[in-house]
Amino acid sequence: MKTTLEALGLKPMIIYESIISTLKPDKTPHAAPIGFTLLDDQTIRLRPYKKTITYKNLKRNMQGVINIVSDAYLFFETTFPKHASEKSYSFEPAVKILTPRLAGADAYIEFEVSSIKEINELCEVYCLPVNTVVGCLRPRAITRAETALLEATIHTTRIKVFVKMGDIQKAKELLQRILYYKALVDRVAPESRYASALDKLVKYSEELLNRY
Ligand SMILES: Cc1cc2nc3c(=O)[nH]c(=O)nc-3n(C[C@H](O)[C@H](O)[C@H](O)COP(=O)(O)O)c2cc1C
Repeated sequence: MKTTLEALGLKPMIIYESIISTLKPDKTPHAAPIGFTLLDDQTIRLRPYKKTITYKNLKRNMQGVINIVSDAYLFFETTFPKHASEKSYSFEPAVKILTPRLAGADAYIEFEVSSIKEINELCEVYCLPVNTVVGCLRPRAITRAETALLEATIHTTRIKVFVKMGDIQKAKELLQRILYYKALVDRVAPESRYASALDKLVKYSEELLNRY
């Protein structure tokens, strides 16, 4: 029988991007993008910076909601609320905890904080899911590995074009970008299918360039 976290399609040890809602001291909700990683069926790790409002709220209330959304605009808006023309999201009550969730999220995980490790400016917050709700038929948590693979794939097709045109300098610049995305994928999704795809793109691009 599938657990609900598995039903979300989450794979362990990949950093997925989410918008975490927490409660401020005045009991109003706060939302900010924070990555999360599934360590096992029952443990989720967050890595907020100590100075963030989110971390302070998590430490004070020991609870929050991971809201899974796929609209990149929401990540921009919650990071830079003053730059967004109008607020496009709202909050609704959660089921098992006091912290509200984002209305209309693809899915959400209400959690309690089980432990916190303060490491320099970065903290590790270990969370125990207490209620997981799938709001849409196929929720998709964004991972930077996916956008990195997309960009690297496009750049690889362009390398071929530049090599054929004899513009080796441009092709070399593109290889540098692909290597940058490989490093990113190795960090956010090591040993995943994204990482193995990036390895292949790098190998293919290097082979193309080595012919010249
Ligand atoms: C996609 C995305 C992922 C992010 N992940 C994290 C993270 O894992 N930890 C963190 O401290 N900040 C992260 N940030 C930055 C914070 O969301 C940002 O600094 C925010 O303004 C600080 O949160 P606060 O409003 O709780 O202070 C991320 C931002 C984006 C756009």
